[in-house]
Amino acid sequence: MTKEVGLEVDLGPLHLKNPIMPASGTFDVKCTLLNENELNRLGAVVPKSIAFKGREGNPEPRICETDCGLLNAVGVPSKGVEYFLKEDLPLLQKTNDTIIVSLTGNSIEDFCNLAERLNKIKEISALEINLSCPNLNNGIPFGNNKKKLYELIVNIKKSTTKPIIAKLSPNVSDIKEMALAAEKAGTDIINIANTLMGMAIDIDKQIPRLGNNIGGLSGPAIRPIVVRMIWESAQVVNIPIIGVGGVCCAKDAIEMFLAGASAIQVGSANFSNPYVMLEIISEIKRYLKEKKYNSIKDIIGLIKD
Ligand SMILES: Cc1cc2nc3c(=O)[nH]c(=O)nc-3n(C[C@H](O)[C@H](O)[C@H](O)COP(=O)(O)O)c2cc1C
Repeated sequence: MTKEVGLEVDLGPLHLKNPIMPASGTFDVKCTLLNENELNRLGAVVPKSIAFKGREGNPEPRICETDCGLLNAVGVPSKGVEYFLKEDLPLLQKTNDTIIVSLTGNSIEDFCNLAERLNKIKEISALEINLSCPNLNNGIPFGNNKKKLYELIVNIKKSTTKPIIAKLSPNVSDIKEMALAAEKAGTDIINIANTLMGMAIDIDKQIPRLGNNIGGLSGPAIRPIVVRMIWESAQVVNIPIIGVGGVCCAKDAIEMFLAGASAIQVGSANFSNPYVMLEIISEIKRYLKEKKYNSIKDIIGLIKD
């Protein structure tokens, strides 16, 4: 009998049975085509970012296709934390024993209120902080300012004992500075990255193709940028990195593991192939077997440069 390769990973205090999970905003437990057994085969489930209180999203259209990617300006609409706890969490619990909840907010207080409210909910394994949210004070996303990012994470850490994942914004000139600021503030895990700001114009109507004018680019177009950011950050921080951006198949995920990611989130690719995450898990096993590795851990950060 051939020995199974190990896919388990430890992201600091967070143990995952395998390193593949959905990216926030691209998976909804109420609409997914995957059944409970299939969802249970993922490393974790990660629902869309939630806010403390209900909030509206951006004007329509909120999403448009571009060459090799998607532009979105959904604007994080949310029915609020109490709705999430009552309606979504019980469904999520049936699907996977690792639930990562993504938080959005426009002030340090918003985030801390949410983190405190979720702290005692034992079914939640970790909190992911969406740092691409604009700060009410100056409209600049927390993830674009290392002092604000640091201050936010320090305060969230005081509000919860759950592992914290800082989801960085790629819209910065030096991702290493942001990764280091998040680490210094006490984040347990870094996620690289959210979407890259972009714009598309309808040349017949001569208007922006998104209701919000500008939006975040995701999909294969951003993958080389994200791989570079993972590689750069892995050289300066000592905490685990989750890679996300343009992963469409196992080859793309393996690239990120070699660059230094310990786990991968899959976003836009779920829209064209709902089974893509399950396919990636099987294909990674095949790659590891072929290359005679015992565990996914053997290839993390293995790039020879
Ligand atoms: C329609 C859509 C909605 C998203 N909503 C969120 C969100 O609520 N919170 C968040 O942290 N990221 C959100 N993202 C960003 C994704 O989680 C991910 O970081 C990004 O799409 C890059 O990954 P991908 O290229 O695999 O899609 C969203 C992305 C898309 C396409």
